[in-house]
Amino acid sequence: MKIPFLNFEPTHKEIRKEMLSAFEDVYDSNWYILGKKLELFEKEYSLFNDVNHTIGVSNGLDALQLSLKIAGIESGDEVIVPSNTYIATWQAVSFLGAKPVPVEPNIYTFNLDPDKIEAAITAKTKAIMPVHLYGQACEMDRILEIARKHNLKVIEDNAQAQGATFNGKLTGSFGDINATSFYPGKNLGALGDAGAITTNSDDYAQRAKRLRNYGSEKKYYNEEIGYNMRLDELQAALLSVKLKYLREWTSQRQQIAAWYDESLKAVGDLILPKVAPNATHVYHLYVVRTSRRDELQDYLTENGIGTLIHYPIPPHLQKAYDFMSFDHKKFEISKKLANSCLSLPLYPGLDNQKIQYISKLITKFYK
Ligand SMILES: Cc1ncc(COP(=O)(O)O)c(C=O)c1O
Repeated sequence: MKIPFLNFEPTHKEIRKEMLSAFEDVYDSNWYILGKKLELFEKEYSLFNDVNHTIGVSNGLDALQLSLKIAGIESGDEVIVPSNTYIATWQAVSFLGAKPVPVEPNIYTFNLDPDKIEAAITAKTKAIMPVHLYGQACEMDRILEIARKHNLKVIEDNAQAQGATFNGKLTGSFGDINATSFYPGKNLGALGDAGAITTNSDDYAQRAKRLRNYGSEKKYYNEEIGYNMRLDELQAALLSVKLKYLREWTSQRQQIAAWYDESLKAVGDLILPKVAPNATHVYHLYVVRTSRRDELQDYLTENGIGTLIHYPIPPHLQKAYDFMSFDHKKFEISKKLANSCLSLPLYPGLDNQKIQYISKLITKFYK
């Protein structure tokens, strides 16, 4: 049996007719940028995420960059970022000329460790960027408390956790202004690049709409220098279709994780993902840890099972960040995670029979 790491087929089969009809609608509409489909999706996503405003943008990195800019981050400022994240979080900070200041994660939840944040705050710190990594909500109560105490902005990177909650409140609704990604493989994925900003601030929302469109609110009148970071009508219409299924698909992801949890407990030296008290996990990824990671990955590949490593090189060890000359000894947890993490196949439509098959192979590997 061959099981890929990710397969869109089951979900795309389910919604094929609706997606093609949404495509036809846009095709026939004669209107492709900044129109009714985008407005509708923004309303629907705001309802889903329980925020006052959603501003559709071109992708997750642009959503992060625009959020930071609107939050007032400038050249020379420092921004607290997780040392263990996808590099987009860091690069958004760097693009504005600001300095990403990495803080280590909790080794069990993979998320920013609130106990370590205050030691990284200096007179230049302007914001904290929690990333709800792999789909689990960060400990937002403590992060917000630290931000309030030090007068810092909070910008959530919610690219991987649409629908996750902390204390019952949705990720993407805590920060001053937040970013998400609808990259195809995300829990809510477009059929191309797409992203969004979420916020409860009317002023931030208005500025985000202006900045994503050349600093313009009225056609050919430009109030400030902006970007072209628009989400197009076609992706918006397709996302509206998929959004209706997101809760059901999230339940399926959680069910798959529960099957893995049950069948892989006490297997070899595997450490399974742990969910923090008061947090929920929407399992964008199911990430296990093992000291024999490379061997296990090779074994699964030989047996037709696709896996990935999220992420093999932490940002501070990437060539792109050589210029910051980090003291590598300060980021031992991130390095350890990068050397021991393995993401197992997980996507809506994957059935228990396949999970049991994968789990039996893994059990056999350790025997
Ligand atoms: C945590 C995180 N932040 C930001 C991004 C950037 O999103 P995009 O690929 O849409 O630019 C991604 C995904 O790629 C991500 O996983």
